[in-house]
Parts: sequence; C-alpha cells; structure tokens
Amino acid sequence: MNSSYQPLFQPIRLRRGAELKNRIIMAPMTHFSSHPDGTVSDDEIRYYERRTGGVSMVITACVFVSPSGKGFPGEFGAERDERIEGLSRLASAIKRQGAKAVLQIFHGGRACAPDLVPNRDVVSASDVAEEKEGAPTPRPLTEPEIVQIVRDFGEATRRAIEAGFDGVELHGANGYLIQQFYSPYTNKRNDRFGGSRENRLTFPLMIVDEVTRVVKEHAKNEFLIGYRFSPEEAHEQGLKMEDTNVLIDALKSKALDYLHVSATDYRTPPKSGSDQSTSRIALIVKRAGNDLPVIGVGSIKTPDDAIDAQSSTGCALIALGREIIIEPDWVQKVERGDEHAIATELSLSDQERLVVPTPLWNAITHTPGWFPIAMSSNA
Ligand SMILES: Cc1cc2nc3c(=O)[nH]c(=O)nc-3n(C[C@H](O)[C@H](O)[C@H](O)COP(=O)(O)O)c2cc1C
Repeated sequence: MNSSYQPLFQPIRLRRGAELKNRIIMAPMTHFSSHPDGTVSDDEIRYYERRTGGVSMVITACVFVSPSGKGFPGEFGAERDERIEGLSRLASAIKRQGAKAVLQIFHGGRACAPDLVPNRDVVSASDVAEEKEGAPTPRPLTEPEIVQIVRDFGEATRRAIEAGFDGVELHGANGYLIQQFYSPYTNKRNDRFGGSRENRLTFPLMIVDEVTRVVKEHAKNEFLIGYRFSPEEAHEQGLKMEDTNVLIDALKSKALDYLHVSATDYRTPPKSGSDQSTSRIALIVKRAGNDLPVIGVGSIKTPDDAIDAQSSTGCALIALGREIIIEPDWVQKVERGDEHAIATELSLSDQERLVVPTPLWNAITHTPGWFPIAMSSNA
C-alpha cells in the first residue's frame, strides 16, 4: 500500500467500545429494491455482499420504523417483529466479511408519498408541504402520536438488536421527520415540541434517549448508536449553522458513538454563521471535540480525496456513497497498492458486474448528473 494512505487504515475504538478495523464506511443509500411489502429481498442482500469486503462498517439504506413513515417504494421496514427474519439475513450478509452492520432508522414524515402510507395520511411536525409540485400538505402529529413514533424508533432498535445488527444510525438528516421537527421552517408548533430552539430539539432528543434506553435493556455488547444530520437547509427560514452547533452540543452529552454529517461535497463551506472560511465538516468536527468521532462524506472518489477530507476537516471516519456503488473493491484496491485501477465512472453496461439491483440502476441511469457515467458507454 502507498504509505500516504496509511491513515485510512488505522483501527479506531468508538466511544461505547466497538472497534472499527479501518476508517472507510459505506454510506447509507436507499436502493428501492426490497419487496413491496417491506421485507428484505435477495437482490438487496447480493448488492450489500458485493460491497462489504473492505469497509469497516456498512450503514444500510434507511428503514422505516412506523407504517406512517415509509418514504420510498422498495424501502424495507423495521416496524414489526415479522421483519426480524429478513433483517437478520441482511445483518449476517454484511457481517460475514468482517464489516460492522448498522441499520439506519427513519421516518419520512412529510416526504412520504401518500400511496405508501396508511389512509394516505402524510404526517409531520406541522402542515408545511414540501416545495415541489403536487406535494401533499402533511397533517400535524398529535402528542400521543409523537410519543408513539418515539417508541417506534425504540422498537425498531430492539428488532435491529434481535436481528444481529451491530448498531443503529438515527436518520436526522435530508429533510425527514426528525429534521422536520428541528427545523424552524417545518416546525410551527407552539407546544413542547415547537417554538423555541430548545423545544424543537425535544423530539430528536427523545428519540436518542429512547434508543439508548432500549440498547441498555436489550443489547449484550457494544451496540453502536450514531446520529446523522444535515448542517444547513436551503430555505431562508430553515436550519443554520447556529442550530447545528446547538444540536451538536446536545448530542455530545448523549451516549452516541459518532456523528455523521450529510453533505454532497466534503469541501462545502457554510452559508451561515460567523466562520465561512472553512468547510462545514471542519467546523462540525471542531464543535464535536476529540471525544466524539465525526463521519465526513461527499464526493470522495479517490484515496487522495479521502486523505484530503480527513486532513482538511479532521473527521475520523470517511463514508463513500456513490463511489462504493461504482467501485465495490475500493478499499481492497487501495490496500493492495492498486489505487490506479479504481473506477470513478459508471459504464451503462456495468449493472450485472457491479451487482446493482434494477430499481436502483434505473434511478441512477435516469437521473441526469447524479452519477458520473462514462461517455463511451452512452453509445
Ligand atoms: C442512491 C442514493 C441513495 C441514498 N439514500 C440515503 C439514505 O437512505 N439515507 C441517507 O442518510 N443518505 C442517503 N443518501 C446520501 C448518501 O448517504 C451520501 O450522503 C451522498 O450520496 C453523498 O456522498 P457521495 O458523494 O459519496 O455519494 C443516498 C445517496 C444516494 C446516491
């Protein structure tokens, strides 16, 4: 291996005891490929198996915790005990080659399509619709419903434990329900879940506490808990770096193993706040402090990018999203000094070789500009 890539291969012990064999993680990516009833499919298992040989941890696609939270067609569920069997097959497939298996748990809130949720009843913190054509206006959740969803996150965690996962990641990013409660743009409530910034944090922190309680009660070993968030929102009235700083301060005192930033490019500077001279991730790492590892992500393609992301932001861990779809052997190639053979573009004839399920392949190839596609394969 090229010695300059050595920092990517240092093992790391996380806060609550689990050890990761290296710093490279597979980012959570929805693949639209579970069975329509929400059970795990063989195609998705094969897709993960193809990508678990080198990374130290795989964070799965998001899984819905409540029937009202299914965000995508072909999304899998952890909302009832019958799911445990399929989840268990998925956890075993990921762990077979030595990666930790982390289940990303989620509720889509206002982003759910009406035909994916019972009675077409799309719910959120408040009645603020997404800014896209035809988006439904969500119904504000009642307090008992909010408390039930918090319990659902706990129950999904218990199922992840029983299925043999090594951890869960709370999906508090990308505009889904947890973020909808924290954002002043989507949360217009005036009860204990809204109004002040502190009140807007109530729902996210209740979930962290409930998940931690369940882990203490049910997990025998160092079960991981991570939290993912988006640092800023596009909307003028949305989340700013100042909100993110307060979120990080609150999460620091919880029993979390890591924070995971959601970003499309690790180099992006903040749009708000007093310091716009460096990247958002660097600021987040600084705020989180030495004790709480941060996963950095976004447009990391080559090992040079990964080293630059580590050194420029200080993040302890690196997640690969699109790149691990394009190059399932990324880690192994770096490890054996074969980094020049790393592919950074997809060819349209690659689906079978790369073991990508058809619904994900169709999404990739029909969304212009999302993935780099090799020109020669366009013919
Ligand atoms: C196909 C696809 C599906 C995604 N699904 C999820 C998801 O389920 N949960 C999540 O937190 N992020 C999701 N993301 C975002 C990625 O985790 C990652 O943050 C983003 O792709 C940027 O990293 P990259 O440049 O390495 O791809 C998805 C991204 C892609 C490309």
